[in-house]
Amino acid sequence: MTTKTKRQFQSPKGTFDILPEDQKYWEKVRKVIARVALGYGFERIDTPIIEDADIYSLAAGETADVVEKQMYVFKSKGGDMLALRPEGTAGVMRAFIEHGMASLPQPVKLYYLAPMFRYEQPQAGRYRQHHQAGFEIIGDQDAVYDAQLIHMYVVIGEELGLKNLSIEINSIGCAKCRPTYRAQLLRYYRSRTAKLCKDCKRRIKKNPLRLLDCKEEKCAQMRVNAPNLIDHLCHECHDHFKNVLEYLDETGVPYVLNPHLVRGFDYYTKTVFEVFLEDEHIEGGNEKTHQRAKLALGGGGRYDYLAKTLGGRETPAVGAGLGLERLIGVMKKQGIKAPPLYKPDVFLVQLGALSKKKSLRLFEELRKAGIVVAESFGKDSIKAQLRSADRLGVKMSLILGQKEAIDGVILVREMETGAQESVAIEKVAKLIKERLKK
Ligand code: HAM
Repeated sequence: MTTKTKRQFQSPKGTFDILPEDQKYWEKVRKVIARVALGYGFERIDTPIIEDADIYSLAAGETADVVEKQMYVFKSKGGDMLALRPEGTAGVMRAFIEHGMASLPQPVKLYYLAPMFRYEQPQAGRYRQHHQAGFEIIGDQDAVYDAQLIHMYVVIGEELGLKNLSIEINSIGCAKCRPTYRAQLLRYYRSRTAKLCKDCKRRIKKNPLRLLDCKEEKCAQMRVNAPNLIDHLCHECHDHFKNVLEYLDETGVPYVLNPHLVRGFDYYTKTVFEVFLEDEHIEGGNEKTHQRAKLALGGGGRYDYLAKTLGGRETPAVGAGLGLERLIGVMKKQGIKAPPLYKPDVFLVQLGALSKKKSLRLFEELRKAGIVVAESFGKDSIKAQLRSADRLGVKMSLILGQKEAIDGVILVREMETGAQESVAIEKVAKLIKERLKK
C-alpha cells in the first residue's frame, strides 16, 4: 500500500474566508449601503469579475501600481488576455458604453458591491482579495455631484454609527492645466532626484504627479515644499473646485484640503478625495520598513476623460469606492454591533422514531408560517436537545414525544419559567405566532 502525504490547504495568501459569525457585519453594511444608495438614486450594477486586461491599462494607466504590479492577468484557453477586476470603475464605464446608457436620462447613477483583486503584500487592511462598495455618477459635470457623493459617504458613516470620519480633498486639474503644473513639479524634483526612493526615481520619468503620493519618509519630507497643484488650476478647474467646496459647506460636510492628494489612477481629473478616520489610524505598513501608513476607508474623484479613453463619447463622471474589510474592521474597533442573522423563535425537540417523522412535517409547516425553528434532529436524547435550545436562547421549545405523536398533540415549554402545556398539533403554529407577538 502506498502512503500519500496529506496536504493541508489554506486560503490563498492575502485572502480569507468570511465565516458565519462575521456575516452579520457584512449584511448590515450591505443593507445600509443599498438603502442609502437607492435613496440617492443609484441603481445596482454587477459586472463580471473578469474583463479584458486592456481596459485597466487604458483606464488606470500602465504605470499605476494596480496595473503595473498588482494585476492578476491570465491568458484564457481561447487566447484572450483577461484580468481579475482590480477596481470597479473601468468595468462600469465599459458597461455604460456597451449598453448605450448615454441615451438614458443623465446622469446615470450606478452602484456595486463586488470583490476586487490586487497582488499586494498582505498586511492589516490590505488584502489580495478585498470588497468594495462603489458609486459612479456618469453623465454630468456639475460640481454638485462631486459634493453629493462625498456627502453620501458621510451619511453611510452616520447610518452605520461610525465616529470621526474625516474627508481629505484636492483638485488635480484637467488636461489644460496639468501640463504646466507637471513642468513646475519636474523642475522642483529634478535637482533632488538623488534623494528620492527607487520607485519615485522611476515615477519622475513616467508619472511625476505620483511623487506627491509616496509613503516613504524621505519623499514625504521632500514634497512639503513642492509646488501645489491647487495654485496652478485653470479657471474652469478652479471654479469647479470652489463650487464643490461651497456645496460641501452647505451640507455641513467637514473636510480638510490636502494639496498632495493625487490618488493612484490616471483616469482622475479635477476633484479627488479620500475618507479617513480622525485620530484613529487603520494600521497599515510594510514589514520591511515598519512604516505605519494611514489607510483610507474609501476614495474617489472625477474622471471626465475615461469614457473617451475606453472608446465612448466624451462623458463627464464622478465616483468613489469604499473598502468593506476596512469599514467592518473600524466598526468592530468602535464597538458597533450588528444584529444576529440567525435568531430562531422556537426549538423543536423530538423523541422516538414516529415523532421524528412527524417533526419533519411540523417543521415545514412552522417554517412556512414564518416561524424560525431550530432543531437537532440527529440527536435523540431530550437532555441534549434541550441544551441546544438553551444555547440558542429560544423563547419556547416544542416537545414531541412518542405519546404526543400518537395523540396528535405537542408540549409547548416556556424556556424561562419551565412551564409546559399540551396543545393540539394543528393549533400550535397559531399559538406560537400569538405568543411571539407578545
Ligand atoms: P481605491 O482607492 O484604489 O479606488 O480603492 C477604494 C478603497 O478600497 C480604498 O480606499 C480601500 O478602502 C479599499 N482597498 C483598496 N485596496 C485594498 C486592499 N488591497 N485591501 C483592502 N482594501 C483595499 C478605486 O478602486 C476606485 N475604483 C474608486 C473609484 C470609483 N473612483 C471613481 N469611482
